[in-house]
Amino acid sequence: MTNGCIVAGVLAPHPPHLVYAENPPQNEPRSEGGWEMLRWGYERLRQKLDSMSFDVFVVHSPHWKTRVGTHLLGVEKLSGLSVDPIFPNLFRYTFDLRVDVSLSEKICEQATSKGLVAKMMRNPQFRVDYGTIISCHLVRPQWDKPIIAISSNAAYFDYSNDVGQTEMRVLGEATREAIEASGKRAILLASNSLSHRHFTTEPELPEDMSYEHIYHHGQYLWDMQIIQLMKSGRTKELMDIMPDFIDQANSECKDGSLSWLLSSLAFPDYPAELYAYGTVIGTGNAVVSWFPKG
Ligand SMILES: [Fe+2]
Repeated sequence: MTNGCIVAGVLAPHPPHLVYAENPPQNEPRSEGGWEMLRWGYERLRQKLDSMSFDVFVVHSPHWKTRVGTHLLGVEKLSGLSVDPIFPNLFRYTFDLRVDVSLSEKICEQATSKGLVAKMMRNPQFRVDYGTIISCHLVRPQWDKPIIAISSNAAYFDYSNDVGQTEMRVLGEATREAIEASGKRAILLASNSLSHRHFTTEPELPEDMSYEHIYHHGQYLWDMQIIQLMKSGRTKELMDIMPDFIDQANSECKDGSLSWLLSSLAFPDYPAELYAYGTVIGTGNAVVSWFPKG
């Protein structure tokens, strides 16, 4: 068996607005568009990924929150209706997906062997969270590849930024090692926004772009600093300032997805490719990808 590898690691944020704006057949509400800069960025990313050979997506989502340890999908096929509890007016999505259970189990075993609490999710009725579904849809709407979803385990919330960082570092190493041992080629998705303060009301027409802008200038400055570090291959420095970023910009990085991704990629010192930056109800969202060499 040839060695497995991570062919791409993507920061793939999941505002439901982006799926709503594209009007795919799976989503019930209809729209007149909106948030084009982000959607066109995802389009360019999809074209790039189309040219690559890979077997599976591995997603870490802020919206599958588990209280005890990290959980991973462990059912071959899952289907149902996913409704965003915050934006049920925008996202009521019929999903039907396949899971790579054998690789999922390997990641779980590897995480456990490194001292993390990890568990397989075996409920065949499980409703997959909207963060996982939206990131996967935006990166590859065909749904022709199996996925693995990893929960966010609340370590950042229950203990501290430091514990959260440490746990995600170990979970990332476990993910990378399991993929390498599997012989498979994986694309990793961190399903989170950057700055995350947001408006609490929406216009009558949600896609009315005359209302869309960053929540405040401080958030914009934080987002630009984080993006600059990604673009210049300084991800260890990014990890150093992550706790301040999380606290000051209320970043959705708090759920651990980006830290997990960077650790899985062994903290890239090469530049990331930036596909888009844009706001959604005032939050900052970047579509960014790392492509490890060889
Ligand atoms: Fe979210």
